[in-house]
Amino acid sequence: MPQPIETPQDGPGPASSPGRGLIRDLLIASAGGLAVLVVGLSAMSLGWIGDKGTDAPATPRAAREAAYFQPPPRSAIPDGPDGEAIRRGEALFMNTPANAAAFTGNSLSCVNCHLDGGRRANASPMWSAWGLYPMFRAKNGRINTMEDRIMGCFTFSMNAQASSSGGPPPAGHDIYRDLQAYMHYLATGAPSGVEMAGGGYPKVDLPSQGYDPRRGAGVYATNCALCHGEDGQGRTNANGQPVFPPLWGPQSYNWGAGMARINTAAAFIKTNMPLGQTGRLSDQEAWDVAAFINSHERPRDPRQTGTVQENARRNHTGGKTFYGKVVDGRLLGGGVR
Ligand code: HEC
Ligand code: HEC
Repeated sequence: MPQPIETPQDGPGPASSPGRGLIRDLLIASAGGLAVLVVGLSAMSLGWIGDKGTDAPATPRAAREAAYFQPPPRSAIPDGPDGEAIRRGEALFMNTPANAAAFTGNSLSCVNCHLDGGRRANASPMWSAWGLYPMFRAKNGRINTMEDRIMGCFTFSMNAQASSSGGPPPAGHDIYRDLQAYMHYLATGAPSGVEMAGGGYPKVDLPSQGYDPRRGAGVYATNCALCHGEDGQGRTNANGQPVFPPLWGPQSYNWGAGMARINTAAAFIKTNMPLGQTGRLSDQEAWDVAAFINSHERPRDPRQTGTVQENARRNHTGGKTFYGKVVDGRLLGGGVR
């Protein structure tokens, strides 16, 4: 088993450096093996390889992505109050536990699920989300503004209930202004009110063999444990800051999150994981490994009143989920702190 890997990119300060995902990708894609991965990451921490940020030179990925909408580069962020808000929003997006500490109940950042700072196509990029709101959401049965939508991310993906304030930023908080300033910037020149190519996570049809967490355990050991840990708790650097995010347990997204649905996780994973080797998993493997990670206990669904079974009937009938189901003799959904 590899030892915890140290990388420099999550250093203290307001924002971790954008573009770290891309550099990591390049290293890992060219590596194709643990030894080179570790050497590559050490080279980075020793400063042999610089992080060039998201304005990095053309790569195969860049060529592929040129078919999609291109958000403006960081270098074009204006000076003045608008630019300051955009930069604060970017910092919130890249390192949420540090920059929204009072409202983040786990170790995840927005960028962990919306890759490359919310720029990457097919990783639910912010440039496509921006023009879709306000929008009706069945999840809460009303029209959601973008602020409502982000409040939902704090409530579920960031498990805000376990934060020091006990909940998401209250309505009207500057955190929403700054995140929206950043999204609006990424969407400069994007159309409004249409679903854009590369928006969301591309759906993956349920394969013929359905999904099976036991098969998924094998997929996980081969393709994921290296970075996310055999115990799914991710890996931190020497300062205790997350380098590879956790997939279940107390520091992960809660049972109410979109990612806790097997279909949604399969879609994210199929197109985006293993990081740097996307397209490696078959549809079957993506569903099985999604079932595996989502058959582990995680923080409780904040909407739960009454029993897990009651909440399952109220809030978990739509998607594919293990919430309220018995796996290996255990009822899932009780939560973990
Ligand atoms: C654990 C993964 C995860 C984290 C962390 C996360 N999100 Fe998301 N986000 C998702 C998923 C999955 C969806 C897709 C919608 C769904 O099924 O709930 C989504 C959807 C969205 C959308 C709507 C996209 C669209 O096209 O309609 C926005 C906006 C968004 N997230 C913003 C954020 C922000 C801002 C943060 C940080 C405060 C964040 N997310 C953190 C997983 C995550
Ligand atoms: C090379 C390292 C690496 C491998 C291998 C890898 N991941 Fe990831 N994964 C990451 C990183 C890094 C992120 C966060 C992305 C970012 O912040 O840029 C991530 C994010 C995620 C997320 C969303 C964030 C969270 O913690 O919930 C999920 C889910 C996920 N990975 C699942 C998987 C699965 C399943 C596999 C195996 C099929 C896998 N990953 C393989 C590095 C890896």
